[in-house]
Amino acid sequence: MTLSTETYGELQEIAARYPEPRSGLLPMLHLVQSVEGRITPEGIEACAELLGITAAEVSGVATFYTMYKRRPVGDYHVGVCTNTLCAVMGGDAIFERLKDHLGVGNDETTEDGKITLEHVECNAACDYAPVMMVNWEFMDNMTPETAMQIIDDLRTGKEVRSTRGPRVVTWREAERVLAGFPDDLADEGPSAGPASLVGLGIARERGWTAPASEQSGGSGRTADTKEEAVEQADTSRAESETKQVDDGTGSDK
Ligand code: FES
Repeated sequence: MTLSTETYGELQEIAARYPEPRSGLLPMLHLVQSVEGRITPEGIEACAELLGITAAEVSGVATFYTMYKRRPVGDYHVGVCTNTLCAVMGGDAIFERLKDHLGVGNDETTEDGKITLEHVECNAACDYAPVMMVNWEFMDNMTPETAMQIIDDLRTGKEVRSTRGPRVVTWREAERVLAGFPDDLADEGPSAGPASLVGLGIARERGWTAPASEQSGGSGRTADTKEEAVEQADTSRAESETKQVDDGTGSDK
């Protein structure tokens, strides 16, 4: 099967966004997945041809990152975090329960083509452990029961919403967003939640502040150490997230 003219056009459109067209390879591969349901040899060839690189180079990227799939993915990709914190908080139990419930193993898809189950590594959402992701949207503070309910709702076509984001779309639709074609759902749902902002609250309570950087127009002082730089970046991000929560503009996307 070859890609349609429309898909070729969109792949070209992505490449043209970048001063170096090959910088567009990652979103181009997401577009291939949105159309083909996985990374196909035709998709690899198309990207290589449009970027003037070899199929081996494209393949090397597609096989390196775990978000690119060589086997067809179901309508909903369900990733259960089984990394250390989530595992001890119940992630392992959730994964086992879903495996039994769905009758599939890791990285397998149910017979009806609806759900692909995969255990995933830390999603940087440890403050809401154990977390599960459906098509890359967060489902926080899961239990085996709430996770199974979500799966059943997805299979029966009920609307499911992320606990920190918009309603869940299909995997192919989500892949199209990752390719840089927005679905206008980015402002749906909450963004940063209280658990992510606890540190900021404590800092404010105790009057801790980070030295201002030149970019922020403050004292002009820049970080002297790596630790200081990390602290400045964290505070700036947390403050921006607080502002988004306060004015309701926040989103995970
Ligand atoms: S360990 Fe699961 S999100 Fe970090």
